[in-house]
Amino acid sequence: MGEKVDLLLHSAGELITVAGGSAQPRRGRAMSEIGMIRDGAVAVREGRIVAVGATREVRQRVETGRDTVEIDARGKVVLPGLVDPHTHLVFAGSREYELEMKIAGAGYLEILARGGGILDTVRATRAAGYEQLKETARGYLREMLAQGTTTAEVKSGYGLDTETELKTLRVAAELGRSQPVELVPTFLGAHAVPPEYRDNPQAYVDLVVEEMLPAVARAGLARFCDVFCEAGVFSPEQTRHILGAARRLGLELKLHADEIEPLGGAELAAELGATSADHLVQISEPGIRALAASRTVAVLLPATTFCLMGTRYAPARRMIEQGVAVALASDFNPGSSPVNSLPLVMGIACRQLKMQPAEVVTAVTINAAHAIGQAHRLGSLEPGKQADLVVFDAPSYQYVMYRLGGQLVDTVVKAGRVVWRRRGREAC
Ligand code: NIG
Ligand code: FE
Repeated sequence: MGEKVDLLLHSAGELITVAGGSAQPRRGRAMSEIGMIRDGAVAVREGRIVAVGATREVRQRVETGRDTVEIDARGKVVLPGLVDPHTHLVFAGSREYELEMKIAGAGYLEILARGGGILDTVRATRAAGYEQLKETARGYLREMLAQGTTTAEVKSGYGLDTETELKTLRVAAELGRSQPVELVPTFLGAHAVPPEYRDNPQAYVDLVVEEMLPAVARAGLARFCDVFCEAGVFSPEQTRHILGAARRLGLELKLHADEIEPLGGAELAAELGATSADHLVQISEPGIRALAASRTVAVLLPATTFCLMGTRYAPARRMIEQGVAVALASDFNPGSSPVNSLPLVMGIACRQLKMQPAEVVTAVTINAAHAIGQAHRLGSLEPGKQADLVVFDAPSYQYVMYRLGGQLVDTVVKAGRVVWRRRGREAC
């Protein structure tokens, strides 16, 4: 008799394991190797996967009892729990009025320069209480879970003063302990220059380096430090200065790079050994080569380009062909991407980035886990990993991306526990 298991998912039409990419992010052709098992099963004990394979084999290897939870995934698709490696989850207010401005032709940096955009959300977030921020973010997380996200990176960056940045990160820490979606926190104090430093942006950089970063590191509230390296926001020199200080304090690095203007952010991320470089709509050929030769994961955010009504998307095909490890994320935020559904991002990635469905699966699972330093424990279905999985009511994995905007998630399991189940489809 095999070992006794707590949870057995069996009979999956397609079980997509994405196994075998935990040491290195997947690149090039390997991004299409997603390890499909038909009539597949996953057995779980104490939150970890103990067996993966064909249902008959797994049933022979493990023992079930009366208290084993069984999930019959007949006719359904099972993926590793989706990982969203770039969100700005904690904020107050909303900016639906920007929709009208954008339709009328206003640019993103133009709205920011007029004191709107990020700075509007900063005003609302500073004014909001801790509980309000927490409950708002909890609501968004519930939506994310219902769309299959089991882990998300969360950035601060709508405080832009020490007190509110710390408040934001504390909200993320508390939410990470009190609802199912696992959260990985990032300090993004250098998201914009706040109005009180408008005439002296360098003094704000000094505040980030001398006061905010040490306070965040001391409190152990962030794993990563990120900077919005962009024309009119933070220059490559300022970015280098901030990220250097972060690294000395033991934080790992991320970078909002080459989103609107090509400033060499990709090259800088590779040079600094950043864990990820994100956006990359305007990445140059040398930037692509630099990322391909590095361990830095490129996190692409096509929902942002879509919401900004951009005509140019990140050159994903070129990046994959050149050997860049590509991940995908929602960039969920109140301005440039009020989208927190990874299945929607996946559908846009197929159509606008021309990524194949198998590459997209890799990009929201194992490569996304690499982008937040969690690939040793998340992002694939293989023995030893945490049992995070999502069951889609779909006949094939391609169908998940094909049904843009569909609500296909049937069941979500986090660390071996069923944390979300779809209710019946009947009208009430
Ligand atoms: O990643 N680019 C900078 N920051 C966010 C947008 C934040 C906002 O508009 O509120 C982004 O797109
Ligand atoms: Fe962002």
